[in-house]
Amino acid sequence: MCGIVGFVGNVKAKEVIVHGLKKLEYRGYDSAGIALNIDNDIKVYKAKGKMENLEGVLEGKELDSNIGIGHTRWATHGEPSDVNAHPHSSESGDIVIVHNGIIENYLDIKKGLKAKKIVSETDTEIVAHKLNENYNGDLLDTLKRTIDEVRGTYALVVMHKEVKDEIVLAKKGSPIIIGTSEEGNIIASDIPAVLKYTNKIYILEDGEYARVTKDEVQIFDKKLKLIKRDYIEVDMDEKTAEKDGFDHFMIKEIHEQAKVIEKIVNTKKLEKVKTNIKRYNKIYFVACGTAHYAGLIGKSILDRNTNAAVFAEVASEFRYNEPKIDRKTLLVVTSQSGETADTLAAVRMAKEKGARVLSFINVVGSTIARESDEVIYTMAGPEIAVASTKAYTSQVMTMILTFSKMFGKAVDVVNESKELMMKFDNVLDIEGYVKQLSNKYKDVDRAFFLGRGMDYNLAKEAALKLKEVTYLSSEAYPAGELKHGPIALIDDNTLVVGIMTDERLYEKTISNLKEVKARGAKVLAIINDRNDLVLDVADDVIYIPKSQGEFNAVLANVPSQLFAYHMAVAKELDVDMPRNLAKSVTVE
Ligand code: G6P
Repeated sequence: MCGIVGFVGNVKAKEVIVHGLKKLEYRGYDSAGIALNIDNDIKVYKAKGKMENLEGVLEGKELDSNIGIGHTRWATHGEPSDVNAHPHSSESGDIVIVHNGIIENYLDIKKGLKAKKIVSETDTEIVAHKLNENYNGDLLDTLKRTIDEVRGTYALVVMHKEVKDEIVLAKKGSPIIIGTSEEGNIIASDIPAVLKYTNKIYILEDGEYARVTKDEVQIFDKKLKLIKRDYIEVDMDEKTAEKDGFDHFMIKEIHEQAKVIEKIVNTKKLEKVKTNIKRYNKIYFVACGTAHYAGLIGKSILDRNTNAAVFAEVASEFRYNEPKIDRKTLLVVTSQSGETADTLAAVRMAKEKGARVLSFINVVGSTIARESDEVIYTMAGPEIAVASTKAYTSQVMTMILTFSKMFGKAVDVVNESKELMMKFDNVLDIEGYVKQLSNKYKDVDRAFFLGRGMDYNLAKEAALKLKEVTYLSSEAYPAGELKHGPIALIDDNTLVVGIMTDERLYEKTISNLKEVKARGAKVLAIINDRNDLVLDVADDVIYIPKSQGEFNAVLANVPSQLFAYHMAVAKELDVDMPRNLAKSVTVE
């Protein structure tokens, strides 16, 4: 949440920072801003809204500077506005900072401040004033003494107008990396911001500080003792984060899924799994959002194959539900970013109580990946669209393969996966038809997604996808439960989507669809069989190829992804950056 970029080097800082911020916009787009040191004077430019607004403000300005910091914001303290946008400055304008995270004791710090003019409602501005009061000529030491007074989470990046060759930073709870290149050193919240220049990355750990100049990256521990750390080389390039001729990242990423599956199958069949699932009598799947819905599919695999009690909970609730964790507990975590604050907190709590943590993570080297006992990388590549598609598929696929190895069924699953890759292309062939349906249904008032058993889990992800990108009220319900209340909402401008991949449950779900049809709803069925009963009730039917067990979750999710995407396009909405959302949620 919130994207940070800082640069010091041999080329124009403005170009590097603007480029990097555009790559990090998925982290928030309520406002953006940049501060540059130009001849010992700090110039700050900000704009509410997306990066294009900031670019408008910067247009035509000859900003000759090789050092600067920038920020793209997802608002927590204070509404989205120019004044609440980062960078924030001290009263004198000498110190300027950008911040990702939450300063919990900012009101206490504010009470003791000498500064008279506090212009924003943010927690961050208070830290800028405090830094100025603590400034003693040594910027890193000043930062450390200020951090000693701060409680909360932060990636905090600081510049001083008199120190025009260095940027200092501190990290706790929010990610920050430093890319090192010929052009200079680039500080960023995430790797895509630096890939144009380098794939050599330093990763900062919680409690650490860094001093960055054009020639050097120095990393320090919490007592400011210099640490020797080598950079890592990441296996990614700028190209993987481009749209490749597609109109949006979301549709590009939907189409990439067949390749992702292929890569997962080819790599994972060779990888050894260390976790011995038989040792655990309680297994918790913990995650947020789409990753939680992928976890539900994992739960269904383990329910069928182990004697353990298996639970799946959203990470933000997990800690408060008094989970009974001990050394015989396995925590299975799914996370695209590996940085989600609630998921990370669940990991830390479970580890403290003796559980083993097995995680399925996309971003290599992310915090949850580093803190897990075993990490299985999900290999989806960079996912840029805020609404997750290929990350979900990759999580489900890696779980199917990993668990099947644990149960000695790897060979069958690899064969089945090969068939799945072919079936996947067939599902993508229905895009034209799904687009027509999206145009037909784009003006409905609300949508319900119904399913039973695993199809209910699919319904949850489908409903989330549609609401994320179209802003329609869109809810998932167990097909049999709708009549216990929500059926009151059904009218002739309601769309009800029935998801049916389990033939044992077709008839029951179809009966439930009849109930809503009788009350005027429009009915769309997603089913993996030609079936007369469904033709009788549905206005439209999307057929998907039949597959085995949880593989159906991979295939049956695709029409819902395409439907959400084309509905958003038909409604002329910003598909890749839906309002109010952020891709990486690093606050609780
Ligand atoms: C946000 C994103 C979702 C994602 C969820 C969990 O809500 O918009 O796409 O599923 O966070 O994120 P994670 O990185 O842990 O998978």
